[in-house]
Amino acid sequence: MTDHRQHPIRFLVLEASLRRGSLNTCLAALAADTLKRRGAIVERLGMREFDCPTYDGDIEQSVGAPAAADALRRRLERADAFVIASPEYNASIPGGLKNAIDWVSRTSPQPFNGKQGLLMSASPSMAGGNRGLWALRVPLEHLGARVYPDMFSLAQAHQAFDADGRIADATLQKRFEQSIDCFMELVEAATQYPKLKKQWVEFLGEHADPAVDRVESAMM
Ligand code: FNR
Repeated sequence: MTDHRQHPIRFLVLEASLRRGSLNTCLAALAADTLKRRGAIVERLGMREFDCPTYDGDIEQSVGAPAAADALRRRLERADAFVIASPEYNASIPGGLKNAIDWVSRTSPQPFNGKQGLLMSASPSMAGGNRGLWALRVPLEHLGARVYPDMFSLAQAHQAFDADGRIADATLQKRFEQSIDCFMELVEAATQYPKLKKQWVEFLGEHADPAVDRVESAMM
């Protein structure tokens, strides 16, 4: 594919499994490689690097967010967009990932606000972990992330990859690349509209109270 973009776009690729030999890490590696080959700047962050102790408001108040949450926040801040490859646990988000999102949501500026995101999953099951991604959308969209409508879920992932780490089924591999291409186009377009603003208000509908309100504007 010819790369016609004016500036390289920065992507953060997050892997939400701690397991050695994780199928989602394989999918994240493929996403990172595909993005790089299309001219993007890619940073990968494994779950081990952003895994946080369980959120505790007392710890937050006494010592602040853990270093892992801060690392995730900083990397999100310097990216134009993020990709998350996450397993599905019991039809939902893995607790560790949700916990990291909860910690990061407490930082200011809250880095998911206004950020473009693409979600993907891999599972040995026939649904490929897709239900977990629907659950993952909820906190991300609540935080103002612009979650791409199409999500890529790789079914029977334990036998889906070839020796080079690509998806062995040519049609699926093509579909994966098309998803990345379309997402890249959207991120590219979003970076071209710096005046696009979105205000994020936590707890919409409450009576205004400056003591507890968090209202932030995203500049893209
Ligand atoms: C799973 N797994 C799973 N798979 C699925 O498709 N739907 C599900 O609801 C669940 N639930 C679930 C709960 C728990 C606690 C575990 C440990 C596993 C199976 C899961 O998809 C499989 O273990 C993947 O290989 C996990 O992803 P990684 O670690 O390979 O990236």
